[in-house]
Amino acid sequence: MISGAALCLVAFTAYIVWRNARRYTLKDIRGPPSHSFWLGSEKVIRNAKQVGDLEFQWAREYGPTWMTKGCLGEEVLWTADHRALQYVFHTSGYRFSKRTLAIETTRLFTGDSILTTDPIDHQRHRKIMNPAFGAAQLRTFLPVFRRSAAQLSQKWKDMIQLGEKSDGCTMNVNETLSRLTLDVIGEVAFDHRFGVLKDNGVDNELVQAFKNLFIDTVLNPSSLDVIFKSIWRFLPQPVLRCLKYLPYREYRRFATYLQTAIQTGKTIISEKAAGTEKGSKDIISILVQSNLMEDARAQLSEREILSQIATFLVAGHDTTASTLTWLLYELSKHPEDQHRIRDEIKAARANAEARGDDDLLPSDFNNMDFTNAVIKEGLRLHPIVPTLIREADSDDVIPLSQPIETRSGKIIKEIPISKGQGITASICTYNRLQSVWGEDADEWNPSRFLDDGRERSSLGVFANLCVFSFITISPAGLRACIGVLEMQAVLVELVENFEFRFPEGVEIIRLNAGLMAPMVEGKSHEGLQMPLEVSVIA
Ligand code: HEM
Repeated sequence: MISGAALCLVAFTAYIVWRNARRYTLKDIRGPPSHSFWLGSEKVIRNAKQVGDLEFQWAREYGPTWMTKGCLGEEVLWTADHRALQYVFHTSGYRFSKRTLAIETTRLFTGDSILTTDPIDHQRHRKIMNPAFGAAQLRTFLPVFRRSAAQLSQKWKDMIQLGEKSDGCTMNVNETLSRLTLDVIGEVAFDHRFGVLKDNGVDNELVQAFKNLFIDTVLNPSSLDVIFKSIWRFLPQPVLRCLKYLPYREYRRFATYLQTAIQTGKTIISEKAAGTEKGSKDIISILVQSNLMEDARAQLSEREILSQIATFLVAGHDTTASTLTWLLYELSKHPEDQHRIRDEIKAARANAEARGDDDLLPSDFNNMDFTNAVIKEGLRLHPIVPTLIREADSDDVIPLSQPIETRSGKIIKEIPISKGQGITASICTYNRLQSVWGEDADEWNPSRFLDDGRERSSLGVFANLCVFSFITISPAGLRACIGVLEMQAVLVELVENFEFRFPEGVEIIRLNAGLMAPMVEGKSHEGLQMPLEVSVIA
């Protein structure tokens, strides 16, 4: 019996090695040497001290496109090349799908959501979702962003007053920012008050299910786990659908979150049914209306709608909180930029007052050139989704804007690939290419985004950054507005009311926990942290 199972395992492994070898088309592309036959460079990349550091080094050595070995001899194409990214995510339409690993991992915590669809289904989901993300609609969320930001501001003032020093204290800003963004997504997406910002240290079920979700599941995987996941793409769908029953911490943790999110979704939907508020303007109400207008065969099922709720909770919450956290980190190291933002806020407030408005309007935020440059620079240096992974649906040729030299010394401008080729788009490397951003690409310099008359290429949907992915693949153009407007509103409130300093003796590192997670060096077991000295501006 045991020898039968062992024989099957050996035969299956041999089959995978053979399948991987059939696709060898990248032999001539340069890249780092493989660390082992079983793991390739996968584990080294996943366990890097800081997200991106290895990729930055490889891009300097081999150019913006290189090859690494994956598990069991697989070849993986990495690119940060402008044209290649444009081709894979935009020009080619849907010819590059998400990989099984990304889809099935995401399914574990979002169910059958827009993030786990195949290309045809993705268009169906998008069509129904689009009205909920219209630009005019998103502008109506500004009062929610401002009100929630003011609540956070008051909370920090209370915390500082309660602290030892009356003028300031060191606090983990990420913790409260995460509560703030959960409250915000509750209101704008579901018209539901989670009220987690007000809870003093008390975690409701949802906060508990979320807390360190990705750190507990994605950070520092074991070798066996890395190899196991590399074979998912060879397993049939019915087997993959059973992953959630595996008795391991990762699968249990994801299942608990999904259960809690679905339960929350059911409560939200029944509240809406009971309230019978026609014309509600929150995202899910508009999505439900848009769904009803659709042909019955194309409509989202109840299970799919609940999965979108689980998705909004994940996608619209820690993404914004982590980006704001990194922004405050950079500002704490650059007090001069805090002063510049405050000057801009003063000028904007004076304008609003002259107009007779009580608060700033979306156009005021858009006119704050330096504040917006700070947000863009924060997204550039700290893209919280550092890589996007795709797979070629057919044989193809990837064009390059920056030719690369191959192992055999040829200079090539395009790379032929075969069906099934895995491609990792290194967004964090693209965001630091000197050829795109200049010699100071590794430095914090928001002024690079102020109009200096320089011709810049344009990639993605926001500021030549592909941190929100690409318009044909996601509602990013529209979504960019929701994330960006929220960040503008919160950042302005916080910088207007507080001064941020970086505490002495602390080192912050970026770890790969699904999102680019900030942690204190030597204390990653304590989870997400960004301790900053925060004091109230008199
Ligand atoms: C700073 C904030 C944010 C960043 C950096 C960000 C980034 C991203 C990225 C990179 C993707 C593509 C993922 C992939 O292709 O695998 C994505 C997808 C998505 N995001 Fe965000 N996001 C942010 C905020 C938000 C917010 C506030 C929402 C609101 C609900 C949201 C909703 C979504 C949705 C629904 C998708 C799936 C789109 C699709 O597949 O068509 N995101 N986001």
